[in-house]
Amino acid sequence: MRIILIGYGIVGQSFTKLLLSKLVDLYNLYGMKPRIVACVDNKGSAIDTSGLDIQRLLEIKKNKGTVGEYYRNKSSQLDPLQIIENIDAEIVIELTPTNLKDGEPGLSHITSAMKYSKNVITVNKGPLSVAFPSLIELANYNGIMFKFSGTVGGGTPILEFAKRCLKGDRIVSFKGILNGTTNFILSKMEEGLTFKEALKDAQVKGYAETVPSLDIDGFDAAAKLVIMANWLMGMKVALEDVNRIGITQVKTQEVSKALKKGNAIKLIASCENKKLVVKPMEVSKLDPICVNGTLNSVTFSLEYAGNQTIIGRGAGGIETASAVLRDMIEIRENIINEKNWF
Ligand SMILES: NC(=O)c1ccc[n+]([C@@H]2O[C@H](COP(=O)([O-])OP(=O)(O)OC[C@H]3O[C@@H](n4cnc5c(N)ncnc54)[C@H](OP(=O)(O)O)[C@@H]3O)[C@@H](O)[C@H]2O)c1
Repeated sequence: MRIILIGYGIVGQSFTKLLLSKLVDLYNLYGMKPRIVACVDNKGSAIDTSGLDIQRLLEIKKNKGTVGEYYRNKSSQLDPLQIIENIDAEIVIELTPTNLKDGEPGLSHITSAMKYSKNVITVNKGPLSVAFPSLIELANYNGIMFKFSGTVGGGTPILEFAKRCLKGDRIVSFKGILNGTTNFILSKMEEGLTFKEALKDAQVKGYAETVPSLDIDGFDAAAKLVIMANWLMGMKVALEDVNRIGITQVKTQEVSKALKKGNAIKLIASCENKKLVVKPMEVSKLDPICVNGTLNSVTFSLEYAGNQTIIGRGAGGIETASAVLRDMIEIRENIINEKNWF
């Protein structure tokens, strides 16, 4: 199984570490021999059609800052689009930064991979939140598999749970906590910290970006809500269809007042009657979606089976890398099953 890896940051490097530790299992359990035939970051690329040495890739990235230094005295000049076009591979894994304005550069990488009949895995919310319906159409048109389980919930299989385990029932509505950073901040405010102090703490601990708008203004949760609404509810929506309010105006006094009533203020993303909303809401401490710290949670309300809640870590390099690996195994299994049809 040949892989082109585009983006070699936290998730990309975690994914290769995971691959290294799982090589024997992957072969024994699934007959898989994954080979990374190209790896690209923002400064260069490394290509070896017989498979790059993963340990070396990790060391080069750590010591030199770019995989472009993989070959001594010879840096690759190929950019991601040229690599997608010219290097044979079964899977393109797209792990560049999320851009919620126009989905780039991820959107071009993904559409190009699809056009060249390569299966795609991504955890990048940008392309999906701006162009979900057309990406699904393009994937179907080109007969390729498009997997994105890590875009919602990091390693927690929220999308798979809803799509597979709830088959035969109907999701009437769902709501949940989809952003770990804001949940951490709100949990800290319960301890008496102001919003600013809690945000600072989240930044020190590496949960929030230096420019934290994506999280605190609710964009990240809204992007995940859009992906869920499209994929699970059959809606055709984008980011602008979400009614969104972030947590910057939440006061410590309001949090304490809610606490006295046995409630907590949480940034809740919901899809009810086809309406998409992200806003701070008071939630009972007894409600299973009321999780603390950086955890994520979603409750699906079903027509027959009642409420089903899934809880787990919503982000993290290795957690998210496990979702990428899960998608990869699934692509492999589908390829094998397809072969067995004929
Ligand atoms: N980290 C998490 O916990 C997590 C969880 C869920 C989803 N995600 C999503 O996963 C994606 C990757 O996250 P991350 O944390 O790994 O980000 P990151 O550490 O910032 O890594 C991004 C990588 O993309 C590379 N890159 C940037 N622009 C590029 C371009 N035009 N062409 C090729 N490579 C390019 C960067 O290159 P340089 O190394 O040269 O800068 C870097 O290697 C993002 O979309 C993020 O939202 C992350």
